[in-house]
Amino acid sequence: MKLAFIGIGNVGYALANNFQIKGHEIIIAHDDEKSDSAVKAQEKNPAFGVLPIQEAIEASDVVFLATPFKLNEEILSPLDFKGKTLIDCTNPIGPGISHGLESKISGSEKVQEWAKGAKVVKAFTIYGFENLENPGFPNQDVKPVMLIAGDDSKSKVLVHSLNTQLGFETLDVGDLSLSLHLEHMTLLWVKMVRKNGHHPNFTWAYLER
Ligand SMILES: NC(=O)c1ccc[n+]([C@@H]2O[C@H](COP(=O)([O-])OP(=O)(O)OC[C@H]3O[C@@H](n4cnc5c(N)ncnc54)[C@H](OP(=O)(O)O)[C@@H]3O)[C@@H](O)[C@H]2O)c1
Repeated sequence: MKLAFIGIGNVGYALANNFQIKGHEIIIAHDDEKSDSAVKAQEKNPAFGVLPIQEAIEASDVVFLATPFKLNEEILSPLDFKGKTLIDCTNPIGPGISHGLESKISGSEKVQEWAKGAKVVKAFTIYGFENLENPGFPNQDVKPVMLIAGDDSKSKVLVHSLNTQLGFETLDVGDLSLSLHLEHMTLLWVKMVRKNGHHPNFTWAYLER
């Protein structure tokens, strides 16, 4: 598939690089093709292409959003996603690692408001980028779980498939409004790892009987 990445920093690069290794075509979506992160990403993986954002959306099957949340409205508002799936990897983080929208609404619902014509699925957010760089846990019986949320079932099937290719089990928690709770899980993970010294490769797992 052709995957476009708006944002190719810690998170965008980790995902794009793994998906390129799995055989997907990667397009960096940036209106400045000489932006620091676009140049750095292409130095690390010369297979990546780059296009202006609207052209990248039109040329791709799926779009990833991996930008600082505070820039999302400005970046997304001029665009038309034309019915494409937009995987929202962003998190609204506020002061003291709090929820950046005061837990009144999820960041992904705001992304859905701003991204005209997009089918938004929240995914790849509940861990730090370390687990996206290397999601493999070869000596474990259970797979790491990735929780996703979204309103469009076909888009969630697509995300499920991409997620499986990275080595995660997928747990669809429900509609996009449940993203708020995924964002709180992220805050917990970030506080545990970045403040309280837990290992950056720890993940959650899903057990059922
Ligand atoms: N870091 C983590 O462990 C982690 C884990 C899960 C989720 N997240 C979330 O993922 C998002 C990205 O985090 P990150 O750590 O990857 O950030 P980052 O390393 O700072 O990367 C941000 C990316 O956004 C790009 N960008 C900024 N303005 C842009 C524009 N106008 N058009 C196109 N691209 C633009 C930057 O490109 P230029 O600077 O080159 O313009 C850069 O490639 C955040 O919302 C974060 O909360 C982070």
